[in-house]
Amino acid sequence: MKPTFITLEGVEGAGKTTVLEAIAAWAAQRGIDLLQTREPGGCPSSERLRELLLDPALCWCSEAELLLMFAARWQHWSETIEPALKRGQWVVSDRFVDASFAYQCGGRGLAWERVQALADQLPKMARPGLTLLLDLPVELGLERARKRGPEDRFEQEKAAFFERVRQAYLQLAEAEPERVVIVDATQNQSQVAEQVTKMLEARYQ
Ligand code: TMP
Repeated sequence: MKPTFITLEGVEGAGKTTVLEAIAAWAAQRGIDLLQTREPGGCPSSERLRELLLDPALCWCSEAELLLMFAARWQHWSETIEPALKRGQWVVSDRFVDASFAYQCGGRGLAWERVQALADQLPKMARPGLTLLLDLPVELGLERARKRGPEDRFEQEKAAFFERVRQAYLQLAEAEPERVVIVDATQNQSQVAEQVTKMLEARYQ
C-alpha cells in the first residue's frame, strides 16, 4: 500500500494518545511500518521551538506564534515526515496544518487567508491523506486536560477560546469531508479506539 500521511486533531483533552495507540496497533497488525510524530515538534530543532511556544512564562503575539508554528512545521516536514514517506513508511502526526487554522485563525482570530497563504507554500505531498478530528464538548476536554498537570501556554486560555478552536475544526471537516473524518471523542477509550480501527479497516482495505 502507498505510504500514507495521517494527522490527528482536536481540542485539548480529546484523547489523541488513545487514538495514536489504536492506529499504531492497527498498523502493527497489518505489517505497516508507521512513524509517530507530533507538532509543534517532531525533530530536535522543532522540539526546541515547541518549548518556547508552550512556555506559559513567555508571551507571543498571534503573528509571531503563527510564524513559529510554520517554522517548526517546515523543519519537521523536511527533516522527519518527507524522508519517512520517501522511505516507504506511513506517518501519523499528532497535529499539523489544520491546527494552525483552528488555533491561530479560530482561537486567536487571525485571517484565514494568512494561514492559507503559508499552508499553500508547503509541498503538495505535505497534504494529509486522512485527518482524524477528535471532537467533543470543550468543557469535557478541558476537564480531562486539567487532570494531567501544570497548564501550558495554550491550556491557560479560557473556554471561549477553545470553543472557537472547535468550531474552526468543524468548519474544516465540513469543507473537506473526504479527508477530515470526525471521531466522537465523548466515548470511553476503548470505544474511541474501536471507532478508529473500524474506520481504518474500511478506508484501507
Ligand atoms: P499538544 O501537544 O497538547 O497538542 O499541544 C500543542 C499545542 O499547540 C496545542 O494547544 C495546540 C497548539 N498548536 C497551535 O496553536 N497551532 C499549531 O499549528 C499547532 C501544531 C499546535
